[in-house]
Amino acid sequence: MTDRTSAAAGGAGRAGSDGPARAANTARTAVVWDALSGLLEKLGRGGPLDVVDAGGGTGGAAVPLAELGHRVTVVEPSPDSLAALERRAAERGVRVRGVQGELGDLSGLFAPGSTDLVLVHNVLEYVDDPAAALGDVVGVVRPGGAVSVLAANAVAGALHRALGGHLTDARTLLGDAGGRWGETDPMPRRFTRSGLLELVERSGLTGASIRGVRVFTDLVPGQVWEGDAQAGRHLVELERAAAEHPELLGIASQLHVLAHRS
Ligand SMILES: C[S@@+](CC[C@H](N)C(=O)[O-])C[C@H]1O[C@@H](n2cnc3c(N)ncnc32)[C@H](O)[C@@H]1O
Repeated sequence: MTDRTSAAAGGAGRAGSDGPARAANTARTAVVWDALSGLLEKLGRGGPLDVVDAGGGTGGAAVPLAELGHRVTVVEPSPDSLAALERRAAERGVRVRGVQGELGDLSGLFAPGSTDLVLVHNVLEYVDDPAAALGDVVGVVRPGGAVSVLAANAVAGALHRALGGHLTDARTLLGDAGGRWGETDPMPRRFTRSGLLELVERSGLTGASIRGVRVFTDLVPGQVWEGDAQAGRHLVELERAAAEHPELLGIASQLHVLAHRS
């Protein structure tokens, strides 16, 4: 990770000296930023890229990407999120274009094959038809460009539900095609590793790589922060090491896939 990307990731290298909340957030995002860092370098060879953050919310990824010098557009249905994005970008002194719209609007907003990279982070869970939505995304990516998908892991959802004492919910989730534990589950959909990879491959993207995100950070008890100023840094290092172990994918809260348009 370059210094600039480390800063974008929330300063992973400084995690130990920050407050617990910030350190935990850094640990949650470090693996994704590591992967994106390598991808951005490869796609742009150091130059600015055209990036679309589809369902980009308040700009948690878009603003750091703009800080790295990329031309970023957030397509987002929520006007409140777009307003928060504008404030965040202004605070950081960068420009991010915000457009109100959904994944289904991408083809009307961008020329076919005009984008270097599209982020679809924590959004496929909320759309009616993930396959159609990903198809819309792929249409605006240039040949050789890439898509970054981050999505909730159904298996980890069951693990966390069981650890919270909700054993029948965990059982329900494991048998549910949408990866939900019940009608009151606030998450509309979760994905299995194989299901997400199949979705990505069926969309026409190739060369998919997958890594587990938040393998340990959501599991370690709060006491880990007490009396250990280095806990944040150690957690980041642990998450990075865990991402290298495909066996740990199953318990990662999120699955991160990078794939290319051929
Ligand atoms: C959990 S938030 C994720 C925000 C951001 N991508 C992130 O990772 O922090 C889900 C976002 O998806 C947006 N969203 C929901 N349905 C969408 C759709 N059909 N097309 C695009 N965005 C959508 C929501 O408004 C919300 O901002």
